[in-house]
Amino acid sequence: MSISKFTKCLGENIKTVCFWGLAVFIFSTQAGQAAEMLDIRNLKSREMASAYFDRAMGYQNSRFAAVSLVEALDRVPFEGGADALILRCRDDYEGIISFDDIRRYDIRLATDIRIDPQFKRPSWLQAWLLLIPDDSSAPSMERFMTANIEKIYLASSVDYYAPLDKVVMNHPEAVSGSRVYKQNCLFCHRLKGIGGNKGGSLLAKFDFGQGGRDAMESAFLNFHHKMNEDKQNVEQFVSHSALKEIGLFLSLVFSEDH
Ligand code: HEC
Repeated sequence: MSISKFTKCLGENIKTVCFWGLAVFIFSTQAGQAAEMLDIRNLKSREMASAYFDRAMGYQNSRFAAVSLVEALDRVPFEGGADALILRCRDDYEGIISFDDIRRYDIRLATDIRIDPQFKRPSWLQAWLLLIPDDSSAPSMERFMTANIEKIYLASSVDYYAPLDKVVMNHPEAVSGSRVYKQNCLFCHRLKGIGGNKGGSLLAKFDFGQGGRDAMESAFLNFHHKMNEDKQNVEQFVSHSALKEIGLFLSLVFSEDH
């Protein structure tokens, strides 16, 4: 069975089952293998708040019902070589979160989101949502804001990132830019065949052979700011110097392709 057929039939299953209960199904992405499946219907759903989420969104008093991803991971019967979860979202966002981060920051999965009606709620802000609990020390980054999650797969992060890590191996000066890009951008700006594509390919939009770095930086600041209509304020996670490092990294990816 091809990968696409495999995921499609599982996708249909998920929709049917999710209709009647709180269930997370974790599948292996490898075609032809028995699906790794985790059912969290018996996991305890807790009411909670998240100062981390409220701060990032500019909200107050948001409330959630959430289950523990640590408990969910403890129930994976067979991890194989997996060390991360891929989070496929309905809006062409694709998150990825390591088992290490899940355990270190006690990451939850919100199954119900209640926003104070005085605040504007963008259409992408739907369950399931990664959620950082109040006593966690997770650093501020886009990575921990994945919402609108539809399917969750087990993955190996080494395999997943291989096309990007190959570039970094040839260009050690891209280490830092690549890291920032993976933490904040890849989920919406696909690169070398990986990531989501909600925001399109930055290499297709900017000519990194010709002044594309500066153009990309100013377009970023023009779009991803605090007043962004769709609440895609990514600027809050990226310092000016980190943005420069992203530019350098993208120009090295570009130079490898040309
Ligand atoms: C939540 C998804 C999301 C994330 C995360 C994200 N972007 Fe975007 N980005 C978008 C969308 C959507 C657009 C608008 C695209 C359009 O209008 O065609 C956009 C536009 C841009 C633009 C302007 C491009 C243009 O078409 O004018 C730049 C530059 C950009 N993003 C860079 C980045 C960088 C760098 C990061 C990481 C630090 C990042 N983005 C993270 C979704 C995202």
